[in-house]
Amino acid sequence: MAYKITVLPGDGIGPEVIAQSLKVLKVAAEKYNFEVELNEGLIGAVAIDQTGNPLPDETIEKCKKADAVLLGAVGHPKYDNDPHAKIRPEQGLLKIRKTLGLYANIRPVSTYEILYDKSPIKTERIKGVDFVVYRELTGGIYFGKKGKSADGKSAFDTSEYTVEEIDRITRLAFDASLKRKKKVCLVDKANVLETSRLWRATVDEIAKEPQYSEIEYTSMFVDNAAMQLIQWPTQFDIILTENMFGDIITDEASVIPGSMGLLPSASVGAGKAMFEPIHGSYPQAAGKNIANPMATILSVAMMLEHFNEDAAAKAIRKAVDSALAITFVTEDISKENAKSTTEVGDWICEKI
Ligand code: IPM
Ligand code: MG
Repeated sequence: MAYKITVLPGDGIGPEVIAQSLKVLKVAAEKYNFEVELNEGLIGAVAIDQTGNPLPDETIEKCKKADAVLLGAVGHPKYDNDPHAKIRPEQGLLKIRKTLGLYANIRPVSTYEILYDKSPIKTERIKGVDFVVYRELTGGIYFGKKGKSADGKSAFDTSEYTVEEIDRITRLAFDASLKRKKKVCLVDKANVLETSRLWRATVDEIAKEPQYSEIEYTSMFVDNAAMQLIQWPTQFDIILTENMFGDIITDEASVIPGSMGLLPSASVGAGKAMFEPIHGSYPQAAGKNIANPMATILSVAMMLEHFNEDAAAKAIRKAVDSALAITFVTEDISKENAKSTTEVGDWICEKI
């Protein structure tokens, strides 16, 4: 059987890290006896340049037909600081999430010994960090009503959630927790926000269900969580949260391991799944063959786990660990004797 994968390299370093991850995917497919059928599509600034649309219909069709989507990065500086830009690369990303119904964004954060020194946080605090953020991805303030007054002097964004939206991601997080340390922390702002109170009430009820009785369920206000993530990150196992809080705390959490270049993510929903590194398009590094491909390679490992190709996924993770263990890494991790993007990709393929 062949897995149909739609590949969206996107902008900046996206195409370079995607190229390495596809090399790794092909080697893993050969070694572990499965087939992949790859199909490329446009998204982001490159899509705007070529079609005027950050997510052309053709790309949507390709993604709908696929078993999974593998995405590089989206974003270009020419749009970043222009508040008047009507079309933005990021719209492509938001639209693909919404269109494919990818309501849960899963971002694992763990630390690697060789990176302890790179982390801005003291080693004793980050040793053993291993948690996963379940971020709601298709609701809340990102997709609520928004607008500007006619005179341009006021603007608004609204956040709305339904019980159904909260329920489905909560079950994913709780089910995942049963296979981990059985700890779920809901992050919200229930002391201020009505939507957070709905989250709290909904999750409180689900937590009482008998199949979840072994789970240690807690909740924390987001401002406190932002602090606790730095002060005592090992206390967390699964963090469950809404869209915007999740966006912010996952960026915060990404500095714990010492390099953003190592963190993969999965966005899942009703049937479809998309995998992407959590870093952005890093335009300053584009075309220089210096970007760290590991986050995208680990995103491929998450994709293979999604397909239940666990042996292949494990081999990829092990190869990445080995590269880190001997410091065969790009310059974001080690300035001295830094390897290029392609060298790291080749080494990992060889190891597999
Ligand atoms: C992310 C990004 C996106 C988000 C942007 C690029 C729209 O920051 O995936 O976390 O805010 O969701
Ligand atoms: Mg973000």
